[in-house]
Amino acid sequence: MSERYYLTCIGCGSKYDPNNIIYKCYRCGDLLSVEYSGEVMKAEIASKWNLRDFTVWRYAELLPVSDKSKIVSLGEGGTSLNKCVRLGCEASLKNIYVKNEGENPTGSFKDRGMTVGVTKALELGMKRVACASTGNTSASLAAYAARAGLECMVLIPSGKVAFGKLIQAIVHGAKVIQVKGNFDEALKIVEEICATQPVYLLNSINPYRLEGQKTIAFEIWDQLHHNVPDKVIVPVGNAGNISAIWKGFKELYAAGLTEKLPEMIGIQAEGAAPIATFIRERLEKIRFVEKPETVATAIRIGSPVNWKKAVRAIEESNGLAETVSDEEILSAQRLLAQREGIFVEPAGAAAVAGLIKLADMKLIDRDEVVVCILTGHGLKDPDIILKQFSKPVEIEADIGALIKMLSLNP
Ligand code: F0G
Repeated sequence: MSERYYLTCIGCGSKYDPNNIIYKCYRCGDLLSVEYSGEVMKAEIASKWNLRDFTVWRYAELLPVSDKSKIVSLGEGGTSLNKCVRLGCEASLKNIYVKNEGENPTGSFKDRGMTVGVTKALELGMKRVACASTGNTSASLAAYAARAGLECMVLIPSGKVAFGKLIQAIVHGAKVIQVKGNFDEALKIVEEICATQPVYLLNSINPYRLEGQKTIAFEIWDQLHHNVPDKVIVPVGNAGNISAIWKGFKELYAAGLTEKLPEMIGIQAEGAAPIATFIRERLEKIRFVEKPETVATAIRIGSPVNWKKAVRAIEESNGLAETVSDEEILSAQRLLAQREGIFVEPAGAAAVAGLIKLADMKLIDRDEVVVCILTGHGLKDPDIILKQFSKPVEIEADIGALIKMLSLNP
């Protein structure tokens, strides 16, 4: 077993060699997590981090890669953390920040996971990679597979993937397969293929991918001058990202780099909210949503594979889960674009819709430091904008026409 890290089951605690190609525990079938040996978890690592560029690989000591010469990178991570005064005013809150993950190479946080996951595919000697996706995972995997020279297959729900994301997967040369069903059904098929064929699965059930995504937590801590926020608000779909970010904060805590942990808040769309329903209604058993529906197609997911990790993250952190309507999502998208100059796709806006709702419910104190994770770029889904806004006016190419138009529309 590697000395630096290993795989462990979150259910029965079984440990596995990190070079196993394994996505679930052989013994109990539960999810796996990457853990590091105690030696690594020392505060001195922070001084090494300070010397490196602000990218995912700044945090190499807590990333599960053995051979650094094989890293497949597009410069992912290092996204900006913007303080949003005008958005804060809207919600009567003083310390609101947004982490703009749309700045990543393919326009979403998935790139953080793919740089690690695709590097791992190379380390494990795999020649083919695959995923099911609501769009961003496929765009990201297609790009990183291209850079690594790997064959890539992506399964997407037919007609339910935003146009920009589809284009990305196509241009990067992935084999794009539309499934007549939803994301959950596509994931089931691709999981089966990867269990029986030499194809490496890069959905968030793959614990290595989540390791890359946990760097969102490290970066927030770095950007807040080695402080941790009071609350972190994350849109939840397949539930990998909120779990990964929580793991990142816990690792900072274990390394003695912070004495505080944030509350994790998961936001789901009303029509695709099995985790929020489970937590809010204190159900004994999770009820998956058979026909999930939301304008935020990225999180149109009814059976999130990482639900157990996400519920744990929310409960351990004393956080909460909330739902937002499609109207609230689209209004938050407009607000961010028009008051803060930040254009996000609807799923990303769900975090801000959640912020506004929770502020209205008085569940956030005025002085608390809150970070919303804006998960994807707005250009990914142009159709949703065209549906909401009227087309710009058209005039003849002369000054008179312009003056006339301006007097009609001052
Ligand atoms: N926001 C965006 C923009 C996403 O693309 C996703 C997930 C999420 C939030 C939710 O993250 O699944 O970790 O809870 N998109 C996946 C995909 C499912 O296939 O691109 P999660």
